[in-house]
Amino acid sequence: MSDVAKIIIDGQTYEYPIFTGTEGERGIDISTLRKDTGLITLDPGYVNTGSCTSEITFINGEEGILRYRGYPIEQIAEKSTFLEVAYLLIEGKLPTQDELDTFTHSIKSHTLLHEDIRLMFRAFPLRAHPMAMLSSVMGALSTFYPDTLDPYDPEQVKISMHRILAKMATIAAYSYKYSIGHPFIYPRNELSYAGNLLHMLFATPAETYEVDPVLERAIDVLLMLHADHEQNCSTSTMRLVGSSDANIYASVSAAVNALWGPLHGGANQAVIEMLYDIRDNYKGDGSKYLELAKDKSNNIRLMGFGHRVYKNYDPRARILKKMTKDVLEAVGGSSDILEIAMQLEEIALQDDYFVERKLYPNVDFYSGIIYKAMGIPVNMYTVFFSLGRMPGWLSQWAEHHANPKARIGRPRQIYVGANERDYVPIEKR
Ligand code: ACO
Repeated sequence: MSDVAKIIIDGQTYEYPIFTGTEGERGIDISTLRKDTGLITLDPGYVNTGSCTSEITFINGEEGILRYRGYPIEQIAEKSTFLEVAYLLIEGKLPTQDELDTFTHSIKSHTLLHEDIRLMFRAFPLRAHPMAMLSSVMGALSTFYPDTLDPYDPEQVKISMHRILAKMATIAAYSYKYSIGHPFIYPRNELSYAGNLLHMLFATPAETYEVDPVLERAIDVLLMLHADHEQNCSTSTMRLVGSSDANIYASVSAAVNALWGPLHGGANQAVIEMLYDIRDNYKGDGSKYLELAKDKSNNIRLMGFGHRVYKNYDPRARILKKMTKDVLEAVGGSSDILEIAMQLEEIALQDDYFVERKLYPNVDFYSGIIYKAMGIPVNMYTVFFSLGRMPGWLSQWAEHHANPKARIGRPRQIYVGANERDYVPIEKR
């Protein structure tokens, strides 16, 4: 296989090295293209552009493979915990028991929010979306810790990461409590990360709340499945904002906002709405909806199906499908929408339209059903996604800063606007 690519421009040939990753992925290194030729590449949506090399997450969309630091997602979901995955992503290796205990202790000792941050919530309208509160409060956190914002001081970065991981769950729970007018519930550090999250969401001062171990494990698995997904929109935002040496809280705040968009983190909500629509308006018959999703004369799509990278079954969806049944059993919830989802999946996977286009269930197809069964409100689904994605954002940000060759992210453009023209005074326009 060639290790050089040739580009011919105006009759002149230029050679560029082909870079090969550890899994055999190949990319043309055009970093000197503009210097050599005066030309740039044009790639809207960065569909063909590698913005960095990374040691964190490997995805093979054709074969449906996802690995964190080399470990398959299936093994992670079965054997690990969210905090261990956070350690793995950030530190680059699986922890020993001592290392995990120290890490867990550090995260748990940072769960409380400064009381003045608690008061910040009062400034939001009651109907404020939890994602807006999450990004605002996350940005504001930097003002409480001005002495630990140097991106090149490893100790300062470490303590900031631990604070963010710990406080994110508290902020998420407070944003929900505030939106329903309930009192904030302080964290309980003897609980696991997922158990504490459920406690802060569902306990009230009026009643004790027992964490259900099935739900606790389900939340932990959901968080692990979302922990990283290489250079997606919010992770690229995290790296890009960080590349200006903006502090880590500002970078996380921006990443949360990027994830909020319905093209990125919001599809699990759309799946739930679609399943209820099928139940209520199509007598539970998914095949009629499937026909609509194939019909190009409307904008309807089968939500939770298809993916830019996966052209095979999303490995996270496979894990979630199995877990959905366990959760529904544990909560004694209605399985009507699960049955509709499974029927939809079965017929879609045999339908020529979906087969030809390699459209398979993605992570969002089943996650919404689980959140719904647990009683988590729809506008919190993307907040849960942010919580899970946090270790990925933090580790990608740190990887950027650890690279001595890293530069500020600054794409170019091809200008297509007006050519030079003289200014026209206002009375002559
Ligand atoms: N239902 C029906 N048709 C679909 C679907 C779908 N869910 N997804 C793709 N297609 C069709 C397109 O109409 C297109 O058909 P054509 O070739 O005849 O024009 C073809 O499949 C290719 O689709 P694109 O939109 O070009 O694929 P792209 O990679 O740009 O989009 C996306 C991927 C956005 C995920 C798309 O599959 C989609 O809209 N899915 C539904 C929404 C969804 O589930 N999003 C969650 C993604 S996972 C995540 O973000 C965590």
